[in-house]
Amino acid sequence: MSYIWKWLTVATSVAAVVAQDCPVYTEYSQEIHEPLSEGRLQLPYMRPDPACRTFNSTSVEKVIEDMRARLQDPDLARLFENTFPNTLDTTVKYFDPEQNLAFIITGDIDAQWLRDTANQFAHYHALLSIDPELATLVKAIINVEARYVAEYPYCNAFQPPVESGLEPTYNEWALNVRVNPPVNNETVFECKYEIDSLSGFVKLSRSYYEETGDDSFINDNWIAAIDQVFRVINEQSQASFDDDYNWVSYFNWTGTAGALSPRVFNHGNGEPKGYTGMVGTHHRPADDLSVFAYLVPANAMLSVELGHLHEMLNKTNKLPEIAEEARIWSERIEQAVWNVSVIDDVFAFESNGLGSHFFMDDANVPSLLSLPYLGFLDRNDTAYVKTRQRILSKQNPYYAEGETWNGVGGPHVDPWHPWPMSHVSAIFGTDDDEAILNSLYLLANNTEGLGLMHESVSIYGDKEVAGVSRPYTRPWFAWANSYFAEMLLDLAERKPHLIFNDSTPYRVGQD
Ligand SMILES: *[C@@H]1O[C@H](CO)[C@@H](O)[C@H](O)[C@H]1NC(C)=O
Ligand SMILES: *[C@@H]1O[C@H](CO)[C@@H](O)[C@H](O)[C@H]1NC(C)=O
Ligand SMILES: *[C@@H]1O[C@H](CO)[C@@H](O)[C@H](O)[C@H]1NC(C)=O
Ligand SMILES: *[C@@H]1O[C@H](CO)[C@@H](O)[C@H](O)[C@H]1NC(C)=O
Ligand SMILES: *[C@@H]1O[C@H](CO)[C@@H](O)[C@H](O)[C@H]1NC(C)=O
Ligand SMILES: *[C@@H]1O[C@H](CO)[C@@H](O)[C@H](O)[C@H]1NC(C)=O
Ligand SMILES: *[C@@H]1O[C@H](CO)[C@@H](O)[C@H](O)[C@H]1NC(C)=O
Ligand SMILES: *[C@@H]1O[C@H](CO)[C@@H](O)[C@H](O)[C@H]1NC(C)=O
Repeated sequence: MSYIWKWLTVATSVAAVVAQDCPVYTEYSQEIHEPLSEGRLQLPYMRPDPACRTFNSTSVEKVIEDMRARLQDPDLARLFENTFPNTLDTTVKYFDPEQNLAFIITGDIDAQWLRDTANQFAHYHALLSIDPELATLVKAIINVEARYVAEYPYCNAFQPPVESGLEPTYNEWALNVRVNPPVNNETVFECKYEIDSLSGFVKLSRSYYEETGDDSFINDNWIAAIDQVFRVINEQSQASFDDDYNWVSYFNWTGTAGALSPRVFNHGNGEPKGYTGMVGTHHRPADDLSVFAYLVPANAMLSVELGHLHEMLNKTNKLPEIAEEARIWSERIEQAVWNVSVIDDVFAFESNGLGSHFFMDDANVPSLLSLPYLGFLDRNDTAYVKTRQRILSKQNPYYAEGETWNGVGGPHVDPWHPWPMSHVSAIFGTDDDEAILNSLYLLANNTEGLGLMHESVSIYGDKEVAGVSRPYTRPWFAWANSYFAEMLLDLAERKPHLIFNDSTPYRVGQD
């Protein structure tokens, strides 16, 4: 018997009846729920009522208990308890193990982003070998995403699979956008081309394999998707002009005013680029327009993930030609990142392959600050250390500091709203205890008393700036919650003395 979760549809089962009475989490996440934590911050308990949770996992509950028993500060314990299960508690909008399909929303927007899902589940990877139901869910996500990528490799966010019976979400921002090649808005929620979306799909697939040893997701559907990933890599690594000055465009994103924020210039192609060995992109991980096509952190992630793809295929003894192509591209991109984008030992954020670079960092992942998290280099790498110093300073146009909050933001919100995720990346990128604790408590202090991670937080608090008072954005942002919990689990293993009463490391899956 298959269990299908249909939220807000006419109830035909007990679970759905209960779900109908469940509050919308966008509202629930903005209200204080008791009991409050017993620490200085008195953080609320933000998990939905058990009957309203979208997926139950005993292994997840065990990790929460294990961490609660060890975390010295009750406020951090509460933050972990709220954030670690947030994706399973609130975003599994549909799951049918028999059909091997699922639909995972990003949080307060009713659509599935390729990048977000890969990250929303990253902190559960270590559980996949001990929790078969959770593994089945992740396999279903890989399968539905393989279908999306095989058909629309240039798109970033998707509608529910038809089998779910869920209505597509109306996206007014996509109505007047013209995408070439065209897309169907019953399948695609939004089609911004971002190379890290495809890296996210690869990361989810290979992580699932690494934890479970199960390669049964490698079906025709998945192979078709991987073929499309390489098609995009080949197309988007080419220069904008060929040797005879013919214009090269495989994908463009145009349309009429209103829907484009902002429009992609040069008829939807972005800034012209030369060949480097890196892969160009149009939009960044925040879905903002790139200035130059070669987004360095996204290429770093792509290189790392293609390396893992090679290893995985090699171990499974499948698809040797694709394995070889993955290895070649992984090395080519890695070399090009170092050759083209490092100037005076500092990484540029974007390059055009014609000698121009843009120095800044964006707040989410992949970012330059997150290069060690991505697995591209060591925390102590000289170029990383130098780049990091610059990112966390006035030299980064999107770094900002207030009395009680600071960090890296981006044009997605505005320069005075640093994102909590930037501090999570900063923690992953250092071994310095003082820097770690500083970032950790900036995060804990700045949840607006709501005990969840938000997209961005204003350095001006609730003061009105540019005509609006916006202390924070996105009350329900599942990826940010997952990333915070993933970081606390990393500290539990790497720096237990900072957060536990004793220095015994805790590893998920240990008894
Ligand atoms: C999770 O468990 C609760 C009972 O604790 C139940 O009411 C709810 O329906 C379950 N959710 C799912 C998706 O199975
Ligand atoms: C850790 O130690 C503090 C003070 O030494 C104590 O108050 C707290 O209960 C301990 N926490 C745990 C989880 O053992
Ligand atoms: C899809 O596009 C059509 C035509 O612009 C529009 O009428 C419809 O509402 C859109 N559907 C969704 C789900 O956005
Ligand atoms: C837009 O992309 C299509 C391929 O989908 C291509 O045929 C067309 O030439 C491109 N247009 C421009 C202006 O780049
Ligand atoms: C796996 O890698 C090894 C060493 O590079 C190579 O000899 C072997 O042919 C590869 N196997 C497959 C199936 O790609
Ligand atoms: C990077 O530079 C090295 C040494 O100069 C060169 O051998 C290699 O071909 C370059 N790679 C790329 C992708 O540009
Ligand atoms: C960086 O750290 C690694 C492992 O912790 C060590 O092996 C390496 O030598 C260090 N490199 C530098 C440049 O300090
Ligand atoms: C967090 O808030 C407390 C109390 O206001 C303050 O003492 C502490 O310095 C803050 N921590 C950071 C890292 O800002």
